[in-house]
Amino acid sequence: MKTAEVAEEDEFSNEMFELAQGGLLMNKEAIVEETKKFVKAKMDGEGSGHDWWHIVRVYNNALEIARHEKDADRFIVELGALLHDIADHKFGYTDADRERIIGEFLAPLAVEQTVIDQVTYIANFISFKGGKNTHVMQTPEGKIVQDADRLDAMGAIGIGRAFTYGGHVQRLMYNPKEAAEQTEGEDTIAHFYEKLLLLKDRMNTETGKRKAQARHETMKYFLACFFREWQGE
Ligand code: ADP
Ligand code: NI
Repeated sequence: MKTAEVAEEDEFSNEMFELAQGGLLMNKEAIVEETKKFVKAKMDGEGSGHDWWHIVRVYNNALEIARHEKDADRFIVELGALLHDIADHKFGYTDADRERIIGEFLAPLAVEQTVIDQVTYIANFISFKGGKNTHVMQTPEGKIVQDADRLDAMGAIGIGRAFTYGGHVQRLMYNPKEAAEQTEGEDTIAHFYEKLLLLKDRMNTETGKRKAQARHETMKYFLACFFREWQGE
């Protein structure tokens, strides 16, 4: 009898707490589902390698890494992964635009401002920005989502995305007039040397490092095959 009364009281205070949060009785799971719908609608059909399936892969990679990282808040990892490419600078948005778009979406779902700030921080600092982003992620959730995003630029998926991007901007697959070990270039193979082969040494988490190593080997194997075939072997 006593236990039942306590349980009822608890239920009541939970409800009051949720009502006080803005009248929206949404739990974290429902907020994540809403976020998926929002991001999917925004990114579906994007042709430069930032389509909805990129977001799904980053989300899954991030959750897998988060399972091994005790300090990370899973809710922030989920929202950060789903929103990491929203209003990205390469689509012409500024940091202020991104902050506003993320805030305008999450605040009406009664997500706490501290969580919104963490998610915005991830979206603002995740990008490689052609190597110009030297910021080191300061939060466990940021480290995880950044690793997950980097993993998706590596391995078989990363190879696929690189050539998708190259086609999108009408780049040659490979231009043999340029040396293979170059640091700047106009073709997609050059992108491996400018960025993709550097990623394994930039991973933040142990799980990220381990997964990156395997994907790095896949890319090295692909490049070796590519050059052999280029020579007609
Ligand atoms: P982010 O800003 O999130 O790091 P990018 O726009 O740099 O993402 O990359 C998105 C995808 O397109 C990645 O898979 C990346 O390897 C690929 N990509 C970006 N730039 C090039 C390029 N110059 N050539 C080929 N692929 C590219
Ligand atoms: Ni991304």
